Amino acid sequence: MTTSLITGSTAGIGAAFARRLAADGHNLVLVARDAERLRKQAAELHDRHGIEAEVLSADLSRDDGIAAVESRLADRSQAVDLLINNAGFGNKGRYLEVSMADELTMLKVHCEAVLRLTSAAAEGMRERGRGGVVNVASVAAFVPRGTYGASKAWVVQFTQGASKDLAGTGVRLMALCPGFVRTEFHERAGMGTDNIPGWMWLDADKLVVAALKDLARGKTLSVPDPRYKTLMGLVKLAPRGLLGGVTSRTGRKYGPQ
Ligand SMILES: NC(=O)c1ccc[n+]([C@@H]2O[C@H](COP(=O)([O-])OP(=O)(O)OC[C@H]3O[C@@H](n4cnc5c(N)ncnc54)[C@H](OP(=O)(O)O)[C@@H]3O)[C@@H](O)[C@H]2O)c1
Repeated sequence: MTTSLITGSTAGIGAAFARRLAADGHNLVLVARDAERLRKQAAELHDRHGIEAEVLSADLSRDDGIAAVESRLADRSQAVDLLINNAGFGNKGRYLEVSMADELTMLKVHCEAVLRLTSAAAEGMRERGRGGVVNVASVAAFVPRGTYGASKAWVVQFTQGASKDLAGTGVRLMALCPGFVRTEFHERAGMGTDNIPGWMWLDADKLVVAALKDLARGKTLSVPDPRYKTLMGLVKLAPRGLLGGVTSRTGRKYGPQ
């Protein structure tokens, strides 16, 4: 039986990964901050699918939280075969409206934690000659969209670069770039969603099925929906200045400060 570790497993896209992987018979290590919610999720997945679900409560915006997950990933006696670096969030406000502390927290969770956890997992995977890492980025990586988009662009570049360096080792790395997905993300960030057209919303469970197929095919970048594949094709052709206006408005309507 293989083991998958998922960060941000308790809600949204991470919870969809947990449901899918458990249904496919993977044992799980579930990581998030809310310990009670983790325990409940682990019990439900164990009861429904008969898999072992371990919980690891850790705050990935803190050094000790990242270190705790690093040491679980580095534990050769309980190998992790698949790592899903998914934990993430949005900040409320545009550039200069967000405090520097919140900007830095985002970089810690989206970039530093992803770098450190990928590296902790990939070492053992390389020794064993197999393993996979999915780093959840966003289509925001490809458009001018504040620190959020910049941090996700880092995830894409890092993942594809590391994947090249690990070619031939049996370790697969893939950046996953979803469009808008109905999760707790927007509510947590205090973002209104009524200016996001209905057709732009993706379903987390379908997204995960498509992502895992792309990983199995050996893709290093997954944009798992035909609508967004087309949009990203158009983005490549559009002038950067025009993109900045459209993309910084869509889905960035903030509630009362
Ligand atoms: N929803 C979208 O439209 C969308 C689109 C593109 C990309 N994404 C990306 O997809 C990923 C998942 O987002 P989601 O939409 O599923 O969000 P979500 O529903 O808000 O879930 C976020 C998960 O991350 C955990 N988390 C947040 N901060 C954490 C921290 N400091 N340490 C550890 N765990 C933390 C949360 O649990 P706790 O609060 O208990 O820690 C929760 O399990 C993110 O990286 C996001 O940027 C989302």
